[in-house]
Amino acid sequence: MSAPVARATASSGAPQERVLRVALLGCGVVGTQVARILLDQTGDLAARAGATLELAGIAVRDTSRVRDGIPADLLTDDAEALVDGADLVIELMGGIEPARSLILRAIGAGASVVTANKALLAEQGPVLFEAADDAGVDVAFEAAVAGAIPIVRPVRESLAGDHVTRVLGIVNGTTNYVLDEMTSNSLDLDAAVEQAKELGYAEADPSADIDGLDAAAKAAILASLAFHTRVSIDQVACEGIRAVTAEDVDWARRTGYVVKLLAIAEHTAEGVSARVHPALVPAEHPLAAVRGAFNAVFVEADGAGPLMFYGQGAGGRPTASAVLGDLVSVARDRLTGGKGSFESAYASLPVLPPDAAVTRYQVRLEVEDHTGVLAQVAGVLADHGVSIDTVRQSVAETPAYTFTAEPASEPAPGAVRTPEPVADLVITTHAAREASLAATVAALEGLAPVRRIISVLRVEGV
Ligand code: HSE
Repeated sequence: MSAPVARATASSGAPQERVLRVALLGCGVVGTQVARILLDQTGDLAARAGATLELAGIAVRDTSRVRDGIPADLLTDDAEALVDGADLVIELMGGIEPARSLILRAIGAGASVVTANKALLAEQGPVLFEAADDAGVDVAFEAAVAGAIPIVRPVRESLAGDHVTRVLGIVNGTTNYVLDEMTSNSLDLDAAVEQAKELGYAEADPSADIDGLDAAAKAAILASLAFHTRVSIDQVACEGIRAVTAEDVDWARRTGYVVKLLAIAEHTAEGVSARVHPALVPAEHPLAAVRGAFNAVFVEADGAGPLMFYGQGAGGRPTASAVLGDLVSVARDRLTGGKGSFESAYASLPVLPPDAAVTRYQVRLEVEDHTGVLAQVAGVLADHGVSIDTVRQSVAETPAYTFTAEPASEPAPGAVRTPEPVADLVITTHAAREASLAATVAALEGLAPVRRIISVLRVEGV
């Protein structure tokens, strides 16, 4: 089927008489909701935008598939023709190609674009923004980060007169759901992931969420916006939640923390950094209260102080809300001849390597409980310039057994079994460089009284 091709631009006259033709690329969970709202709420949207937003067509791969509430005659498999006839293009296909080529085609033809494509923006954002600047059109992408939560516009526009110093985000609902189930219902990681799949939060292959890649794309976008500096996804240090154990989560609770997967963007004296990793968040921090599949972004700015943005980070209707907000905004720009969403990368600050990050850590060790062991452990930290904040020691929960008879390998008949004294040490450090902490952990692993390093988790939000 061919696409409707007649190109219409905003005509002069009363707002309700003006028409902007909208091309929708993709009709998945979000696209279906966007199309339904465009069809059902035409009057309200026209009043808000200043022109009728006419859904000209929807590009899909399979035009024969019936989509509930979507007239079949709107479907087309000729995305290029659809784009060529549009004033505004909504890209909800995801992935790099053909989304990238279609967006560039739309921009080249003078159309403004709304996209939710975080992967494309995190990898090729500058290419799109430069093309949009040259063409004098908008590229809006509120839905690319944290679904329904208004965060792109507040960081770019509301905070344009402030200095953002740090952004801490729970920007992946699947992993937040999994970690919350591990915390609240004592599930292990695999069981919680299976439950997330059953409830439709996690994909059949949940790797992009579990390994932190989805959050890393969002971290790159947030860092770029917050610091007026281009940060691409390959500059984001990324560690997912696969290594988080039920025991880590339990220890976090006992020591006053909650484990969260955080996307972190920071501006320090040396430059900017973006990273994604599981972290211990103090139980009293607002991010610790973000439960289930919800998202939240905590922004710290010099003037504004702390700000928290909270809401649904995924799903058809929540994400469609952000898409339609952008659509109304780019429609208004088009009618007034303005351009609202230019990229600001003027600061061009150095993007720091992952091992330059400065963070507090909680290190859990199982050690032999003898005189001087704590001093030896503390000495290793001191040797690497890592300052201790707190130390907590408890008897190991599964004491190692040895035998009084020598040698210890085989018990002599009648030998008395006695537990060898073993302790768990939980050391929380002051802020230290990632590289110093890595060297410290390597040295602790080689220390004779250290039986094992149980876990190393970063502490954020303090
Ligand atoms: N899969 C993502 C999440 C939503 O679980 O939050 C889309 O980015």
